[in-house]
Amino acid sequence: MDRSISARRVATLVDGFDRCPAYAGLADALVLLIGDGRIAAGARLPSERELTEALRVSRTTVTRAYAAVRDSGYAEARRGSGTYTRVPGGPSRAHDRALLPGQDDRDAIDLNCAAPFAPPQIATAYAEAATMLPAYLGGHGYFPAGLPELQAAIAALYDARGLPTDPAQVMVTPGALSGVSIVAQALTGRGDRVLVDVPGYPNAAERLRSAGARLVTTEVDPDGWDLDATAARLRQVTPRLAYLIPDFHNPTGLLMSDEERERYAADLRRGHVTPIVDESHVMLALEGQELPRPFAAHAPDAVTVGSTSKGFWGGLRVGWVRAPLGLMEQLTRARVTLDLGVPVMEQLAVLRLLTDHEPILREHRAHLREQRDALVAGLGAALPGWRFRVPAGGLSLWCELPGPGGGPGRGLGIALAEEAERHGVIIAPGPVFAPDGGLDRFVRVPYTRRVEELDRAVARIAAAWEVVTARQAPASRSAGRVMVA
Ligand SMILES: Cc1ncc(COP(=O)(O)O)c(C=O)c1O
Repeated sequence: MDRSISARRVATLVDGFDRCPAYAGLADALVLLIGDGRIAAGARLPSERELTEALRVSRTTVTRAYAAVRDSGYAEARRGSGTYTRVPGGPSRAHDRALLPGQDDRDAIDLNCAAPFAPPQIATAYAEAATMLPAYLGGHGYFPAGLPELQAAIAALYDARGLPTDPAQVMVTPGALSGVSIVAQALTGRGDRVLVDVPGYPNAAERLRSAGARLVTTEVDPDGWDLDATAARLRQVTPRLAYLIPDFHNPTGLLMSDEERERYAADLRRGHVTPIVDESHVMLALEGQELPRPFAAHAPDAVTVGSTSKGFWGGLRVGWVRAPLGLMEQLTRARVTLDLGVPVMEQLAVLRLLTDHEPILREHRAHLREQRDALVAGLGAALPGWRFRVPAGGLSLWCELPGPGGGPGRGLGIALAEEAERHGVIIAPGPVFAPDGGLDRFVRVPYTRRVEELDRAVARIAAAWEVVTARQAPASRSAGRVMVA
């Protein structure tokens, strides 16, 4: 992927780098940023002259730093066109780009899939659905747009959030990911550029890619969106669509403010970019806070996908697409090439759940909050060097790992995930969330299991971390500097 990063942006990112000596500190900072994806793989670095001016250091410092970054395998010179970042081993070093829910294995604690267990009301909703089912048995049972009653109930959710919605704007799908597939099928042509976040939800990125899209990326900092950088990126790559997760972004847990939504929507409008807004986590505000208005309230052309998977249960496999009326026919045509609708029984169960969902969600969020706090406390005590923001909603902690990098060609996040699996806990390493590789100093740790299980998971992760860091220590001593591999 060909792109460039400005000297000003690099200067902001390396701010405070170790100056003893400055060239080595600058090289380390650059390697770290490339390794964890904050500077994307394949980006053209600023010229030595531009960076010298932006950093107010000597030209020799930048020349030697770039040489050290090239020597470490995190950049390459291209004749006549400058220095480009790369990740040793290429994108394939991320050993698994899909988040596959594991089979239940009684020994391993599976934290790869960030999905909560079902609240008790699910079974009751199914029992009630069974009593409603006979009324539908006289018909053919196919509802490609969804049961009209459920379309209306979902539209009412948007009305309540300040986004008036006609039930005909809603199509019920087997989950949000399926919604992304339908949108991708309907709206992307081969080679169309689609902007995705890095880090971001990998399964959606893969769906877009397999529909023929060419993914272009924009970095999301663990501390917040950089909308200036994204606006520059939009001008540079002129995508057709942008896939975004403004409500408790997966994996960072970030929540986009109203002002940011307004600004981002205006930038997208200016670039004629259609937003695909994934609201899968919107029901999971854990602090009882009021949420900003839906992104589509700022972007009338937005196509939104939603889900019951995180608020109720993934096993329902019920989600939806909400789109402008004018797009519904195109979406329906695309949909019937993929499937013909969601099972009636599941739609009825969701209909029951939506008739009085607040008490269910209140209880569900209270559990998640307790689990989040237990995980934060557990990781804080066992692994004090790890850095993460405590998210105000969603399902995971996005953790930055400290210390020396992995061995040659291997990232620390991957090394930890592999070792953790040997210790009986499965977590997703950072590169899973980066379509171009990188982010190898991160892991995602969801708080979707019960507190006792999370405590056991933390103990196992801490033991795995000890093995990984012990393995790294001699290498870093012999290299003489802390480096990320
Ligand atoms: C952002 C995002 N979108 C979609 C999904 C998948 O949702 P569903 O189960 O509704 O297909 C997930 C699941 O983790 C997710 O995090």
